[in-house]
Amino acid sequence: MNIIAINGSPRKEGNTSQIVSEIIKGARKNKHDCEIIYLAELNIKDCTGCGVCKEKRKCVYRDDIEKIEEAILKADLIIWASPTHWTNVSAYMQRVFERLCGFFIEPMPRRFPLKRNAKGKKAILVTSCFAPWPINWIFNISRSCINRMRAVCKFSGQKVINTFVLSGTTLTMKEISEKHLTKARNIGKQIK
Ligand SMILES: Cc1cc2nc3c(=O)[nH]c(=O)nc-3n(C[C@H](O)[C@H](O)[C@H](O)COP(=O)(O)O)c2cc1C
Repeated sequence: MNIIAINGSPRKEGNTSQIVSEIIKGARKNKHDCEIIYLAELNIKDCTGCGVCKEKRKCVYRDDIEKIEEAILKADLIIWASPTHWTNVSAYMQRVFERLCGFFIEPMPRRFPLKRNAKGKKAILVTSCFAPWPINWIFNISRSCINRMRAVCKFSGQKVINTFVLSGTTLTMKEISEKHLTKARNIGKQIK
């Protein structure tokens, strides 16, 4: 299986990245082809809201969004990973979601949008947040972030097969507990 992880954390060695790396480590044990894309390393401009993507089926601005589009086309499974920022996905991730609008869906009047290039692909959602369990869930913190990614998956036809929420983190945290790393690795190992 071809697995692509799209990591919207600004921190390559941060909490979200460590979880993604463990999931990938687990997946590689079963010989899946895996790649991690760090959005912070790419040059992706903001959506201008021109709406041309509706007809062109992708954004007219050609920058590193092409790398994401190509990776999604090749992928059987997409790992969407973002730290929780203000109870939402990071700006890196939100920018990509907006730029992929016409690539993912065709809005239809009075109907659900048509699904385009990601229909039928599997997805795993990952977030990490400062708020400890169960505050992060009760107060819609990481839950809201996961739900933002889930909504994109739902409307574009991706099937969410697993989620991973790491709560109670800090930005200065160096190590994630073995319990959480093992859980992440197991999610990777379970990919079929
Ligand atoms: C701009 C910003 C906004 C944040 N907003 C929240 C928040 O709303 N709720 C929360 O629990 N943590 C919040 N955090 C903390 C991060 O989600 C948390 O430290 C996360 O594990 C960082 O992941 P990273 O190491 O991948 O960057 C925020 C951090 C930043 C930098």
